[in-house]
Amino acid sequence: MAKEVTIGKTDVKTTKLGLGTNKVGGHNLFPGLKDEDGYALVKEALDAGVVLIDTAYMYGEGRSEEIIGDVIQDYDRSKIVIATKGAQDASNGNKPNNSPAFLKQAVEDSLKRLKTDYIDIFYIHFPDEATPKDEAVAALNELKEAGKIRAIGVSNFSLEQIKEANKNNQVDIVEDHYSLVYRGAEKDEWAYLKENQISFVPYFPLASGLLTGKYTKDDYAKFEKQYSQDQFTTILSALDKVKTIAAGHGVTVAQTILAWYIKNPAIGAVIPGARNADQVKANVQALAVDLTQAEYEQIDQAFVVFK
Ligand SMILES: NC(=O)c1ccc[n+]([C@@H]2O[C@H](COP(=O)([O-])OP(=O)(O)OC[C@H]3O[C@@H](n4cnc5c(N)ncnc54)[C@H](OP(=O)(O)O)[C@@H]3O)[C@@H](O)[C@H]2O)c1
Repeated sequence: MAKEVTIGKTDVKTTKLGLGTNKVGGHNLFPGLKDEDGYALVKEALDAGVVLIDTAYMYGEGRSEEIIGDVIQDYDRSKIVIATKGAQDASNGNKPNNSPAFLKQAVEDSLKRLKTDYIDIFYIHFPDEATPKDEAVAALNELKEAGKIRAIGVSNFSLEQIKEANKNNQVDIVEDHYSLVYRGAEKDEWAYLKENQISFVPYFPLASGLLTGKYTKDDYAKFEKQYSQDQFTTILSALDKVKTIAAGHGVTVAQTILAWYIKNPAIGAVIPGARNADQVKANVQALAVDLTQAEYEQIDQAFVVFK
């Protein structure tokens, strides 16, 4: 699979399309999930050549990591890039805890659940209020030097918090909410990240399914907490433009949207989530979609009001 990227200043390499796994074992977040679907979809991704698997303690309080840990036993570990996240303190209602001792233990616990002896990317999932960010990252740097993790990430940090975390130039990657309909990171973070050779991974790239094009105006009730009626209408008409481009390539709207992230030079890797193996099978085809520069710009402009 082409379109290879390097994470930050590390030697971790992956392809631009990974897999998000909050619906693998994430029973606490999405009721009614079946573990068997989670096993099947992770296998589907690895069989299709997906390299980057993005998980977290918080997805099922360890269950997502356990399922991924089971699946990878049958694959060549050296060809997989596992990204996981920690910071939620189970002994304190899963409140964020970034203290060096807590983060070091969180990494050990993730290693056990993943049944592996190193983690390719470990993110501090959320900032806490108390710990100086550079001290939290320094703890992870010790684990990096010990070979337990290969890249250091932060997630859900503001630009100021990212800067504090990166005081000693030790942050390799940032994961943050970003999509064509939620574009704040473009102006808030990207210039700093580029200047400091820090990779960027957007979460919610499909806006939780809305950008797959599978919803119509009759589905507004599902999205009324996130979008005004006007915004929802704007998104649907922007998706109509994407539909025309998708038809020209003989692919779906979801594949075209994912291809837009893949073509975007500011994006390290895109990690669409999936509920089942069929969605994974469809999404990995996005790597084969080569948008022209004009099509890329048309999509960018279609969603420009969200910049
Ligand atoms: N760092 C953080 O704080 C943070 C926060 C959130 C997420 N994440 C990570 O980012 C990943 C991506 O975010 P996300 O999964 O929440 O949202 P997303 O990628 O925007 O949307 C994924 C959802 O869209 C639907 N979908 C995906 N492919 C589809 C297809 N081909 N056809 C139709 N529907 C499709 C599925 O949901 P339905 O079938 O239910 O519609 C799927 O679960 C997560 O899995 C997780 O690894 C990180």
